[in-house]
This record gives sequence, structure tokens and C-alpha cells, in this order.
Amino acid sequence: MLNAKFELNSLKERRILLGVTGSIAAYKALELTRLLVKGGAEVRVVMTEGARKFIAPLSFETLSQNKVTTTLFSQEGGRIVHLELSDWGEVLIVAPATANLIGKFAQGVADDGLTTLLLSAQIPILIAPAMHPSLWENPITQENENKLRGLGVHFIGPIRGKLSGQDVGMGRMVEPEEILVKVNQILTRGKDLMERRVLITAGATEEVLDPIRVLTNPSSGRMGIALAEAAKGRGAEIILIHGRTSCPLPPLDEEIAVKTGEEMRKAVLRKLSEVHLLLMVAAVADYRPLHPSSTKIKERKRVTVELERVPDILSDVNKIVKNRKPVMVGFSVESENGVERAKRKLEEKGLDLIIANGPASFGSEEIDATLIGRDGELKDLPRMTKRDVAEEILDRAVEIMKSRP
Ligand code: CTP
Repeated sequence: MLNAKFELNSLKERRILLGVTGSIAAYKALELTRLLVKGGAEVRVVMTEGARKFIAPLSFETLSQNKVTTTLFSQEGGRIVHLELSDWGEVLIVAPATANLIGKFAQGVADDGLTTLLLSAQIPILIAPAMHPSLWENPITQENENKLRGLGVHFIGPIRGKLSGQDVGMGRMVEPEEILVKVNQILTRGKDLMERRVLITAGATEEVLDPIRVLTNPSSGRMGIALAEAAKGRGAEIILIHGRTSCPLPPLDEEIAVKTGEEMRKAVLRKLSEVHLLLMVAAVADYRPLHPSSTKIKERKRVTVELERVPDILSDVNKIVKNRKPVMVGFSVESENGVERAKRKLEEKGLDLIIANGPASFGSEEIDATLIGRDGELKDLPRMTKRDVAEEILDRAVEIMKSRP
């Protein structure tokens, strides 16, 4: 967590919209308003009808010193209020956000002031869900969350903890201080990848052994997809070249599906001249059969297959691009000596940044990552979600891009 002084300074004169929905956690939105105002931000609150069952608008008006919006049909300065607000705000927080609000937003419903504001807002959106675990864990809510994340919407929480009554579980809204830290990050990052084209490779490639069998690895593609979502949220244009993935893809500017390492290599080289940043996240199957069988292998006891190394895509990229080299980021998965081996790959493949991680991150929502730069600077991140690691990687990539002439 950032120290309090830093948080307060960074909020000075920022224009923050806060949407509040009908949950018992609405009382925490009062504390959030107080902290934002204390940090020097100007806050304008929009409440749903449900929120007003828990807290009176006057409480928010008193804390924010601004009028609270409660209806879709009010006007301010001659303009419809949700348009006026979305032009005014720099970030829109919804805390607490109910399953109903998330569901409506994901489906494009705009039937009150807040949902209409969400749909018209061109600014970063941060959602802090609060609901009973049975609602949060419902696949419909999960699908809605994934869809919104894919569109670049930020989420914080919920966390496991005590809920209303005797219930304990996943659904508790995070504390206002944590929302403050996240808002600060969002405001600092803004749209720092605007007008940048980012090429991401993701997922596992497959090499044919015989007509019904392949050599591959358990990559889910989640890390590459998290990077695509995060970069989209920061304004980038995304080209995704992917092998087999097992999670839904976010909206992309261009999608190229491939199977083998060779197909991926060709696709990357074809797109290379158009991009500013290359994030080579794909788990390329390292070996392929030298002579794939054209018929199903039938040996009952033992079979010997001669394998050859799949050409290294990053090394080829490094050889080809000389003048207009994109910033190049690679990943390194090792079961031992992770940092040392990653440093060697960084050198050999001419990378600007490499992320070292272990095999346990395959298929997982979370990752233990170490970021290693060309200058040898090493940043050990605590175990966190792939989406959060994606933001950290992009922070570094943006720094490197800025330092380039
Ligand atoms: N990579 C690549 N082409 C390959 C294999 C890997 O471009 N044929 C990229 C990966 O996408 C990753 C980086 O190189 O960004 C490191 O991949 P990794 O599998 O960890 O290392 P390898 O270079 O394959 O080395 P080794 O298998 O010997 O550990």
C-alpha cells in the first residue's frame, strides 16, 4: 500500500465521479468520499434508488459539498446531467457495486442516472463489487465481470470476509483506503498507451505428432489476455496472435489464431513493422517431431520420436529489426534458477524486459513474477493477479518507450 501522504498529494484537484448502489456496504462510500475530499479531490456522487434506501443523499452532499445526482432526467447548466458529468469526471468509481448494477452495465442497460452515466462515460471506470457470495460466484455474474474486464473496466475486490448477518465468504467490498490507492494508479496511468500499437502473443502452440495427437504445454493464455485487457484500458490498439487458449478473449483490434510455432513465427514477423511494443507471452512448444506421422501411430509398447527444436521467434525478431525496433518484452518459465536463466534469455534474445516466473503460474489466476530490465534492475512482485501484474509490466514498458529517442 502507498503511504498516505503520497495518496493525498496525487488526488489534489482531481475530478472524481462516485456511483453508489444499494448495498449495506454503501456506508463505506461515505468514508471513501471523505478520504477523496480530504485528499483534495472534487467528488460528485450519483446514487441509485437502491442506494438511497441505505443512505440519504444529504450525507454525500454534506461530505462532497456538491449536489448528488439521483435521476436520469435532471439537467444542469442546460445539459442532460449524465453527459455533463461524463465530460467533467476524470475517473468513475462504482462502490459498492451490486450484482444488478454489474449485470446491467455488462448488458448495456441504461435505465437510471448511474447506468446511463456508465454507458456514456469515456473515462476509466473502477468497480468495487459488494454482494452475497452466492451472487458473486454465480457464473452469470462471473461472465459479466469477465466481459467488462475485457472491455478495459477495472475491478477491485471483492474479498473474502464477514458479510451482513452471520455470513462469511467472497463478496465483501474492499476498504476505502484500497480503493484510494487503485484510483491513484488509474489516474497516474491514464491513457498512456494511446496511439500505440501493441502486439501480444498468447497461449500454447501445438506441434503435430500424428493426425490426432499434438505436442504442447498447459498454458491457458490468461497472462497474455490480461495484458491485452490492461493495454486496451490504457488506450492501445491490440493485435493478438494466439495459439490454444482456455479463457475468453477480450475485444481486439486484430486477432490471428495459429497452431504451430512456425505459424506463430510467420504471423509475428508479418506484423512486426507495424508495432511499438511486442509482448511475447506465448508458451511456444519448444520441440516438434522431425517427421510427423501421416497416419495414427499404433505401436503398442514403445515408440521413439525424433524431435527438433522449434525456431526461436524472439531471436528471429531481434535479427530482423534493426532501426525501428519495438520495445520487446519476453517471459521466462523455469523450474529452477529462474532469475539467472531469465537474465541470460534477456541478453540472448535482445529483450528490453523479461518476466521470470515458475511453472505454478500455468493456468492459474495469479502469478509470482520478477521483472528484470536491461539495466539489471530487478523488481520482485508479491503473488498477485495476472491482471495486476499486467499493469506493472505495462508501467515498465511505457517507461522504456518514453526513454527511447
Ligand atoms: N520464445 C520464442 N520462440 C520460441 C520459444 C520461446 O520466441 N521458440 C519466447 C517465449 O515466448 C518467451 C521467451 O522466448 O517470451 C522465453 O521462453 P522460454 O520457453 O522460457 O525459454 P526458451 O527460450 O524456450 O528456452 P528453454 O526452453 O531452453 O528454457
